[in-house]
Amino acid sequence: MELNEFMKDKKTISIVCNQWGDTGKGKFVDYFAKWADIIARGTGGANAGHTIILNEKKYVFHLVPSGILYDVDGKINIVGNGVAFDPRFFIEELDILDKEKVQYNNLKISLNAKLVMPYHLLFDRLKEVSLGSGKIGTTGRGIGPIYVDHYDRKGLVVNDMLNKNLFEKKLKRALVDKLKVLSLYDKNIVKEILMHPQLESGAFYNDETILDYNKIVEYYTEKYANRLRKYICDAEQFMKENVHKKKILLEGAQGLLLSIDHGSYPYVTSSDTTITGLVKGVGISEKDVDLNLGIVKAFYMTRVGQGPFPTEFGGVISDKHCSSSTKEAEQEMYPNASLESKDEMELGVAIRFIGQEYGATTKRPRRTGWLDLPLLRKAVLTNGPDLILTKVDVLSNAKIIKLCTAYEYTGEDYYYGSELVKTGDTITTAIVDSNILSQCKPIYKGFPGWLSEISKIKEYKGLPQNLRNIVEYIEKECKVNVRIVSIGPERDETIIKG
Ligand code: GDP
Ligand code: IMO
Ligand code: MG
Repeated sequence: MELNEFMKDKKTISIVCNQWGDTGKGKFVDYFAKWADIIARGTGGANAGHTIILNEKKYVFHLVPSGILYDVDGKINIVGNGVAFDPRFFIEELDILDKEKVQYNNLKISLNAKLVMPYHLLFDRLKEVSLGSGKIGTTGRGIGPIYVDHYDRKGLVVNDMLNKNLFEKKLKRALVDKLKVLSLYDKNIVKEILMHPQLESGAFYNDETILDYNKIVEYYTEKYANRLRKYICDAEQFMKENVHKKKILLEGAQGLLLSIDHGSYPYVTSSDTTITGLVKGVGISEKDVDLNLGIVKAFYMTRVGQGPFPTEFGGVISDKHCSSSTKEAEQEMYPNASLESKDEMELGVAIRFIGQEYGATTKRPRRTGWLDLPLLRKAVLTNGPDLILTKVDVLSNAKIIKLCTAYEYTGEDYYYGSELVKTGDTITTAIVDSNILSQCKPIYKGFPGWLSEISKIKEYKGLPQNLRNIVEYIEKECKVNVRIVSIGPERDETIIKG
């Protein structure tokens, strides 16, 4: 089906992820940007890494909306009020766009976006050091601390950069308890973190006061403000005025299983990554959205950072390996890794390599495992039944594809409300609690692979029957509609099923 026909009668659509992130939101926001007048991001911050491959060239966006490559057509790209906005990362992305000669005149930054401060990155990194083996594995972009400050009523917003007196007043208030807490930490560790290039290589460090108040004021109200001033506006009002009039595309960040409200807590990010969080983060309502497309990586899935992952190839060994290894090191360590490998750890390495599953933000190897239907059943309860399946091409040479259809619970007695879950019980819709998920043993169903190249196929019915059998099994078992199948990273490697 053609894009125009698929989008007939739609005014607002959204793209979110139904898994642990990195499913191809960047590719699909860029894909639908062709149709849209306005593209808006509403959640997360520079923890996101959204990749677009355009004519074999790779672009990775952390904060800039993924519609920006279409800006030449006068489309408007918006950073919404719900975004954790780090001006340093944002300016770094603008510099890259300048270098690539991509224009961004129509960029708008919400004056109410939450302003990430140097101490948010500092506390994020300090906390991970203190937690040791119990750490979350965050991206170190200050996400937890900034949302804490927001809810603790100590946050600053983007507009404060444009009003120096107000900025100073709010900063003083925010710093009162932070400086007391900082004095309890080992000064050398604090100093080392503040020397990082992502924290302006020590510009905010002061030997006496630890954080240099004057430098923070100077960078934010002068250096950053001067560069960004012309893009800052009441984007929330703009969205409210244009909803139902213009064609709007909303770009989610992270994935439902990382949602602070719906994910595998505490191994989550600190925003609501679902459609609910996304609409709130741009200032419109869920009722305004005509179609929410939830992306599912298929027929395997990935996770970056710590936390339970029932179908992970290689289980705890993989988890440990991925938190410390690199792409180069693992190629040397597992030279025989292939889709034929009987060893699960090797199979995981092979899929990681074929799918290029290395973090767009942190470069960490992404943990890999078979597609988990109990988790998908849970995700669609919030994000709805309309799906995009991505990365389907990655397993084109696999003889057997397995789907996790249910779990066998192996933990101690657990009350799920008044319902008692006992060891040996079968679970078909996941209980997304870290303690429970980590006690769930996957039950698999095997499917024969299709063993042929698919990236040039243009229509759904042209896809191999064995592949369509798996798609249709998922649709029936999870009560979902697969609307789009993605068979490669480029724009035209996309099949609209309808
Ligand atoms: P996001 O965070 O959801 O935007 O996803 P990332 O950009 O972090 O990771 C997705 C990766 O998969 C990127 O490198 C994309 O270029 C790539 N990708 C997206 N769709 C497909 C696909 O259908 N096939 C293949 N092989 N790669 C894809
Ligand atoms: P995109 O938008 C994958 C993960 C981190 C960590 C946890 C908390 O590219 O899909 P945080 O820095 O947010 O406090 O980290 O969440 N995480 C992501 N994993 N894709 C992302 O974004 C992620 N953003 C955060 O790895 O486990
Ligand atoms: Mg990503």
